[in-house]
Amino acid sequence: MEFSFFKKKDVVALDIGSNSIKIVQLRQAKKGWELAKLGMAHLPPEAIVDGSIIDSMTVTNTIRDLISEHNVKDKDTVSSLTGHSVIIKKVSLPAMTEEELSDSIQWEAEQYIPFPIADVNVDFQILGEDTAGRGQMDVMLVAVKKDVINDYTNVIREAGLNPVVVDVDSFALENMLEINYAIVPGENLAIINLGASITSISVITDGVTVFTRSVPTGGNQYTEEIQRQLSISFKDAEDLKLGGEVSGVDTSELPQVIDSVNDSMVLEVRRSIDFFLGGSPGTFINRIYLSGGGSKVKDLPVKIQEATNIPVEIANPFNGISCNPKYFDPEYLNEVAPYFAVAMGLATRRLGDR
Ligand SMILES: Nc1ncnc2c1ncn2[C@@H]1O[C@H](COP(=O)(O)OP(=O)(O)OP(=O)(O)O)[C@@H](O)[C@H]1O
Ligand SMILES: [Mg+2]
Repeated sequence: MEFSFFKKKDVVALDIGSNSIKIVQLRQAKKGWELAKLGMAHLPPEAIVDGSIIDSMTVTNTIRDLISEHNVKDKDTVSSLTGHSVIIKKVSLPAMTEEELSDSIQWEAEQYIPFPIADVNVDFQILGEDTAGRGQMDVMLVAVKKDVINDYTNVIREAGLNPVVVDVDSFALENMLEINYAIVPGENLAIINLGASITSISVITDGVTVFTRSVPTGGNQYTEEIQRQLSISFKDAEDLKLGGEVSGVDTSELPQVIDSVNDSMVLEVRRSIDFFLGGSPGTFINRIYLSGGGSKVKDLPVKIQEATNIPVEIANPFNGISCNPKYFDPEYLNEVAPYFAVAMGLATRRLGDR
């Protein structure tokens, strides 16, 4: 039995993506997690560019609208960052306790971070003794630029919420898999989150992220290529990509254009997987989970499976969550599942968790 003297407060999970903002709340019920709130709202393409908030007013207003539309009452907010403002590196350090490392992390991290150490917040996770067994240990170092954290926490605060945790997407995805899928000891799982502007790839072993990499590509690359090839606007190209119609535009070339971008996405995925396997000889990946809006692109999952020879599955972040069909239409949840992978992982964070 678990005792708790204070009920841990429910948090608001906010995934501020460049294409859309997602909001989620989970409640801890007797039999695990229960979905309490769920919403998303699109952003114009110029609001967040390359992971930087350009139009903070629009982002703030979009969050505010989501809060009122979904009647969100709690304030404490967990959000996350990804892309080039986040640096995650596996390093080998002399074996020491977590406390000792906490004291020396700034100093240890300095040599691995390509920015002045004063400009970043540093965190870490000890992965365990290194495989060579020379009194060293493997540590996952995480450094996030302070000015980017500030930009994100400012819009959250401006929207009337209280930012309490800023996580990184790849750790949220690790949590998401953990609560929805059984972990098989010794298995290596990859999760590829295909967003609009950023694609991240991580490998998780025994529930711990051991490798992660992000590349500045995603759904926008399809839209931009359609825009270029068919000489139309970004908005029209996005509509066509999502299966809509734009009057006066000949779309006979569309499948080929999408296919050519699929090929370059697949190449990017293979490169990352080869990079991981190259650094961990003798290992292999048992399964690839896909998430993010980009996982809905026609034929992309099967192409990734063919190119890597690894079984591919689209992750369902509602798999292990009770979702009352009275409030959440199961068909809608199925449809939007890929978008909510990060937010669902964030929603399991509680204050005081590490
Ligand atoms: N059915 C679909 N077919 C093709 N692409 C789709 C589909 N649905 C969504 N997308 C694309 O997925 C992307 C949005 O995915 P997602 O919500 O994961 O991105 P984001 O989190 O807002 O962006 P990022 O994390 O990169 O900042 C957009 O490029 C969108 O066009
Ligand atoms: Mg995203």
